[in-house]
Amino acid sequence: MNVKLRALLLCLLLAMTPAVCRAAASPRRSVPLPRIIHRDGRYALLVNGRPYIILGAQVHNSSAWPAMLPQVWPAIRAIDANTVEMPVYWEQLEPAPGRFDFSVVDTLLAQARAHHVHLVLLWFGTWKNGSGHYQPLWMQLNPRRYFRVIARGGYAIDSPSPFDRLTEQADARAFAALMAHLKTADARHTVLLAQVENETGTYGSQRDYSPRATRIYQAPVPMKLLAALGRRKKQGENWKQAFGADAAVDFHAWAIARYVNRVAAAGKKQDPLPLYCNAALRDPVTPQPNGEYESGGPTYNVLSIWKAAAPEINLLAPDIYMPDYHRYAKTLRLYARPDNPLLVPETGLGPAYARYFFAALGQGALGWAPFGVDFTKVAYHPLGSHLLKSKLLRQFALNYRLARPMDRLLAKLEFAGQLKAVAEERGHPRVMLPWGRWNISVSFGAPGWGFDRHPRGNARPMGRALVARLGKNQFLVAGYFCRVNFHALNPALERQYVRVEQVKYRHGFHFLSIWNGDETDFGLNFSSAPQILRVWLSSYRGKRG
Ligand code: DGJ
Repeated sequence: MNVKLRALLLCLLLAMTPAVCRAAASPRRSVPLPRIIHRDGRYALLVNGRPYIILGAQVHNSSAWPAMLPQVWPAIRAIDANTVEMPVYWEQLEPAPGRFDFSVVDTLLAQARAHHVHLVLLWFGTWKNGSGHYQPLWMQLNPRRYFRVIARGGYAIDSPSPFDRLTEQADARAFAALMAHLKTADARHTVLLAQVENETGTYGSQRDYSPRATRIYQAPVPMKLLAALGRRKKQGENWKQAFGADAAVDFHAWAIARYVNRVAAAGKKQDPLPLYCNAALRDPVTPQPNGEYESGGPTYNVLSIWKAAAPEINLLAPDIYMPDYHRYAKTLRLYARPDNPLLVPETGLGPAYARYFFAALGQGALGWAPFGVDFTKVAYHPLGSHLLKSKLLRQFALNYRLARPMDRLLAKLEFAGQLKAVAEERGHPRVMLPWGRWNISVSFGAPGWGFDRHPRGNARPMGRALVARLGKNQFLVAGYFCRVNFHALNPALERQYVRVEQVKYRHGFHFLSIWNGDETDFGLNFSSAPQILRVWLSSYRGKRG
């Protein structure tokens, strides 16, 4: 057989194997698709097939333009994020009906890769903080065709109507175009997730009171929804009859979630990346009455409605701008549901917030991101606000400097249920974390190292700690402005630190030193230095035994 014929036969043979058949049918991705998985009540975001944690930073709303990016990257480097959340503006993407311009998205992809970070793209589509300001001008200037919510008084307000099918179809087409573009332009999955819309809902009206919307409001509630909510199904009940005082808000949530679900489905059909929606929150401690928070978005009171209406959305995420501990912690608990993975895509950049990265980790969050991480809004003056912002970023950089080298390890331990993490609450200077045969105390306060019995708390609550179990009596411990100590749960036993190693993590643990003496006699003391410890424990029968 001559050489050419042999080569031809080999090609034919290869072409018949399933892998090659698939490759021929669709261009093969070099990297597996990011996805969210669920096991034993916990969630993980898989990136490249392994659990990943988003050490995120979100830029200001108007910073994802190529000319602004030079003021973004220095802040991303300063905070040490592994993932950047950037808006994609519908008004830029579709300057004329059906004509798409991906140049800005391509710039974001290229620059994110050059800076070795992943991206989360935020689709500023129909809704942005309850309004429609990112809809292309050819839509915004045609309000008869692309219409707004009508308030109870009969006038239009600055919020798109979820019953506007033309806007919905245009949005679905544009979002699908974006996702189709990512499928080809981002085979290596620089983009991990996409956020569909931004803080959907309406300020100033609980629902759309247009005649068209009111007709649907007065019609029977879909049985499918009642079934999903586990409610007694009464055939023919309208929204008011079924939901009483919450009817308008619940109705609006259902309408918006259904709309968003159709947009999401169109995008997923092109590229099945995980998708999420973010929420402008209703205060979980002193809830505002209906009508006084953003109505219809995925606030805690309508999460089940959103879950039923928008199965294409993988998770509903809180934007947490509530600096006090109680509200923050309660919000984390409300969104970390068995049917909803926790992600905090936006949080405040004030000093009070930095420690909450640890609180989010402790609730199993897939990621966390402060908002406004760039230098676009500050003066470049050595003594000006640029300096202040850099100082602010340093509080947040403490988190990521510690976590980033071992982000995959932390994500793996978190998914395996082997990680606990806490943030300081004012007035609660000590937290106890029982774990197996150990009771772990985390005490907050300046290091006056005899104080373990009566910790004082930091003057400004900024303490944070994490403990992860590496083996039976082996733990990873890290934190800031706190002391971590282990105690035997059995009162007859005393804890012994067999070995406490300070390590650094770079693709595995690297030994730096052994902590002993002052560094362990009263517990393990963490200051503002990023320090990671590997701790081996034992116990002995002591005076109480
Ligand atoms: C929440 C929104 O989702 C962000 O886009 C931004 O507007 C912040 N609020 C405000 O700072």
